[in-house]
Amino acid sequence: MATVAYGTDRTDEAARQAAFDAAVAADERIEPRDWMPDAYRASLVRQMAQHAHSEIIGMQPEANWITRAPSLRRKAILMAKVQDEAGHGLYLYSAAETLGTSREELLDKLHAGRQRYSSIFNYPTLTWADVGAIGWLVDGAAITNQVPLCRCSYGPYARAMVRICKEESFHQRQGYELLLALSRGTPAQHAMAQDAVDRWWWPSLMMFGPPDEESGHSAQSMAWKIKRHSNDELRRRFIEISGPQADALGLTLPTGEIDWDEFKEVLKGNGPCNEQRIAQRRRAHEEGAWVRDAAVAYAAKHGEGKPS
Ligand SMILES: [Fe+2]
Ligand SMILES: [Fe+2]
Repeated sequence: MATVAYGTDRTDEAARQAAFDAAVAADERIEPRDWMPDAYRASLVRQMAQHAHSEIIGMQPEANWITRAPSLRRKAILMAKVQDEAGHGLYLYSAAETLGTSREELLDKLHAGRQRYSSIFNYPTLTWADVGAIGWLVDGAAITNQVPLCRCSYGPYARAMVRICKEESFHQRQGYELLLALSRGTPAQHAMAQDAVDRWWWPSLMMFGPPDEESGHSAQSMAWKIKRHSNDELRRRFIEISGPQADALGLTLPTGEIDWDEFKEVLKGNGPCNEQRIAQRRRAHEEGAWVRDAAVAYAAKHGEGKPS
């Protein structure tokens, strides 16, 4: 959308808005220096921040099992996966910075409880099979949600998502493979896998957000081509994909209805692990202060400016 990138002082508001609308309609990418409506910028910051926070909070439930992974191979895979999630947070905070919002500001809001992360990470990982269920279902739901974001109208977000989705598909496969091994193992291992799927299925479906008629931001996000499909549409797609995969695993998916009251309670902060997740995040941030200080001091000494 280079045509309206500079010299906007001579163009009036309506013309800039028209150029923006035309670029979105033509499926062009909006780039950081392009003019954009304030509400578009604010909506992107909100969504990207929530996404970035989810990546780094999501490290906690799985990191819980790194020391107890049943083999060196499983431990190496899990460590790589948890590190990937930190990297996803990094890409997304960096992409949000192109909208004029610093990482410090977003982290402060997360720590103060003023911005959200995905509710799914407020559930505990009770057994080793949960690592498999998270990879298969939670990363699987994330992929279903995120593949369309690779075509999001905001360039830096779309490009970050391309790389993230490639790594998420590795996460999904490692979870599937882990569950398959358990499902084909001893009766106790099979039962553990089934129990994990029973517990993670519903929160995974909630990851797509509230039903369409209750989703406040959806219509505008779709008009701006930030979102491409509605919550219910993506949720249906995920359910369709998961059925045959469960059959191949030799596991069954629960039947019934989503408990939206539970979803609302977890959103309000009353999930099983909300307090624990935020407390651990704050602690990690405080304990990592010396690393940030050292990086800034190093950059200043070597004339590189402030590291991002
Ligand atoms: Fe991720
Ligand atoms: Fe992942």
